[in-house]
Amino acid sequence: MIVGVPTEIKADERRVSLTPAGAAAFRSHGHRVLVQRGAGVASGFSDQDYRRAGAAIAASGAQVWQRSEMVLKVKEPQAAEYRFLRPGLIVFTYLHLAADRRLAREMLVRRVSGIGYETIELEDRSLPLLAPMSEVAGRLAIQVGAWCLQARNGGRGVLLSGAPGVRPAKVVVVGGGIAGLNAIRVAAGVGAEATIMDINPIRLRYLNDVLGSRVMTVMSNRATLSEELLAADLVVGSVLVPGARAPRLVTAEMVSRMKPGAVLVDLSIDQGGISETSRPTTHAEPTFIRGGVVHYCVTNMPAMVPHTSTYALTNATLHYALEVADRGVLEAGARNKAIRWGLNTYDGRVAHPAVAEALRVKPHSPWE
Ligand SMILES: NC(=O)c1ccc[n+]([C@@H]2O[C@H](COP(=O)([O-])OP(=O)(O)OC[C@H]3O[C@@H](n4cnc5c(N)ncnc54)[C@H](O)[C@@H]3O)[C@@H](O)[C@H]2O)c1
Repeated sequence: MIVGVPTEIKADERRVSLTPAGAAAFRSHGHRVLVQRGAGVASGFSDQDYRRAGAAIAASGAQVWQRSEMVLKVKEPQAAEYRFLRPGLIVFTYLHLAADRRLAREMLVRRVSGIGYETIELEDRSLPLLAPMSEVAGRLAIQVGAWCLQARNGGRGVLLSGAPGVRPAKVVVVGGGIAGLNAIRVAAGVGAEATIMDINPIRLRYLNDVLGSRVMTVMSNRATLSEELLAADLVVGSVLVPGARAPRLVTAEMVSRMKPGAVLVDLSIDQGGISETSRPTTHAEPTFIRGGVVHYCVTNMPAMVPHTSTYALTNATLHYALEVADRGVLEAGARNKAIRWGLNTYDGRVAHPAVAEALRVKPHSPWE
């Protein structure tokens, strides 16, 4: 199979979907790899590194898209890339179709085999290709939250750790999954007053066990959430319902009652966001203020640290991408349930049940 690696064109996206070592792995399985010139530079890989690994370098993104049978990406195809989508092409990337009807329509009309990193799911219901980026984004959430809390950035001028004789900031993380756990660890690590909320009692018990007494665990419902938000300096939204739009747990009214200059870092924005007041932002203009609260809603936060993120991502994706390249979508999915869950669109139909529900269409699996 010819595997293509275009340069990411989403605003400020600096990751690349394959490392030179990954390219060498495809070569050793007998595949050809086509990398767009300069695709890896921002992550620290030169064209020469890819050539040495056995990849060919293409002069343009158009060449990569047109010649490849499978395109490996990081972010969802952008509007300028829609014209390259064609029947039978495999696109293996983060898709987040539940929150992007326009892209979903393009993928369906153009009969693309779309495999979404975010819905590849293991037997224990964990999401192995979302996990590494959630780990990075969760850690970053506290770093950017601390920046937003600075007075010059619209925040209430609070230092997360406090100072001797001065209370630390109160950090509330809503959604205690992978991103949430990583965020709260950093928050507690710098000395903030840390609370983590979830609706899953088993998860709360686990969080309580691993985090100990420095972090408070709270069952999330409308009443407890409202109470925690009003007292918070920094709120991190890290809720996920796999394949579906994020539930809008925070209303505009709740936001307007938060402390002026408090901060909401809404990681779930790539699934629509946890607050009525959230809307996607970019690295160029990451924040806006609504209801007196600084909102940080960048959809691709790990792009800020491309060196770390590219390794973390490709360590996890390579194994699946190789399997799809070796066997094709149908056979790979028949043998590996995780890949079956990953398939979002196939031959003009939506294959994943939660994605279909979000898009209000009937799911249709090619394996049934
Ligand atoms: N913005 C970014 O750059 C970026 C990067 C990586 C991940 N993310 C996003 O971060 C979010 C979290 O990802 P994750 O990997 O930690 O997911 P996860 O599945 O590990 O965790 C989600 C948690 O949310 C909890 N939850 C579900 N509904 C809830 C509710 N109503 N109230 C409270 N908790 C609830 C679940 O029980 C679970 O523990 C996802 O939307 C993901 O796409 C964003």
